Amino acid sequence: MSNKELAKGIHWVGAIDWDVRDFHGYSTLAGTTYNAFLLIDEKITLIDTVKRSHFNDMMHQIREIIDPETIDYLIINHVELDHAGALAEVMEAVKPEKLICSPMGEKAILEHFHRPDWPFEVVKTGDQLSIGTRTFYFLETRMLHWPDSMFTYAMEDGILFASDAFGQHLATSERFDDQVPLSVVMDQAAKYYANILYLYNPLVRKLLAKVKEMNLDIKMIAPDHGVIFRKYINEIVTAYDQWSTNKFDDKALIIYDTMWHSTEKMAKAISRGIEQEDVFAEMINLKVHHRSDVMTKVLNAGALVLGSPTLNNGLLPRMAGFLMYMRGLKPQNKIAASFGSYGWSGECVKLLNEALVDMRLELVDEGLRFKYVPTDEDLDECVALGRRIGQAVKKRRLEQES
Ligand code: FEO
Repeated sequence: MSNKELAKGIHWVGAIDWDVRDFHGYSTLAGTTYNAFLLIDEKITLIDTVKRSHFNDMMHQIREIIDPETIDYLIINHVELDHAGALAEVMEAVKPEKLICSPMGEKAILEHFHRPDWPFEVVKTGDQLSIGTRTFYFLETRMLHWPDSMFTYAMEDGILFASDAFGQHLATSERFDDQVPLSVVMDQAAKYYANILYLYNPLVRKLLAKVKEMNLDIKMIAPDHGVIFRKYINEIVTAYDQWSTNKFDDKALIIYDTMWHSTEKMAKAISRGIEQEDVFAEMINLKVHHRSDVMTKVLNAGALVLGSPTLNNGLLPRMAGFLMYMRGLKPQNKIAASFGSYGWSGECVKLLNEALVDMRLELVDEGLRFKYVPTDEDLDECVALGRRIGQAVKKRRLEQES
């Protein structure tokens, strides 16, 4: 069986994007794949398409197996344009008998492509569709991560076509989880979760519970990005369970930017205090860490300690941008504090505290700000703040375990 075959007659016909480095603000330094799947049966079925720029790549994959015009059904699990971008071209090339999507999928396709003449067949949660020897079961997964998203489960093969869920932005010629080091797959899966799905934690929990209750015999999870899970299904489902419950480690992130190193000195002193409490402290200078990598670290951090000097009555722009990005992803169950240096007006700590309260994180301190350059005594206060933060993380984690 070819490395592109998931099971007999089920082929990967997607595209590898080796070059993409940005996905609306998320740094995709490992590239990505746009996965599409071709099922050869009495009704030949294509599940999902690819980004428009990769239409020809997908058609080459399909032509190696069949004439594209013989495809009968096209299932669109998700309308975002990294998957449905090539839809108009595919519809023209294939002219399928049915275009199958969720109710919200139909709406989104019409709002993107304005083609009411396409042969829509709308499916809802619980609907089934036979394509010959195989039956599909459909499960709407609204807001995971668009209103139109759905899963298609191939019942006889036990393959869950999961759209964006369980995806990883990882360009690779390998198609399966056991062909790539597991740490690489899980690191990319964590980054994907933190930057795409994190804000929908409660919906992820409901979906995991529903899938468990349905007792599906899942032999493979085929997401629309990255590798297909066949060996490490338990590992990826357990990871989603942990990420969505906001479990955290004895770890505090000190996320900061600095102008003339005063805020950096404060960050280092706070870090020393946290570590005196046997809590791991990670220094994250926003000048060298991309916001999407920081979000991956936020996933299992117990505390977020934010630092910025005051610039023109505001924050340094990297911190302001990071706050905007993180606010949208709605981190939960974390304690927080802030710090920063200033020259005259000194709004930094007030602005950081307001942002943290707005995100409903628990402020454990009113924060520290010092004028121009901190003295040794000021830095002692920073160490003491770090100790209070470390104690609060440990207390919170004990509560989590009880
Ligand atoms: Fe991979 Fe929501 O698109």
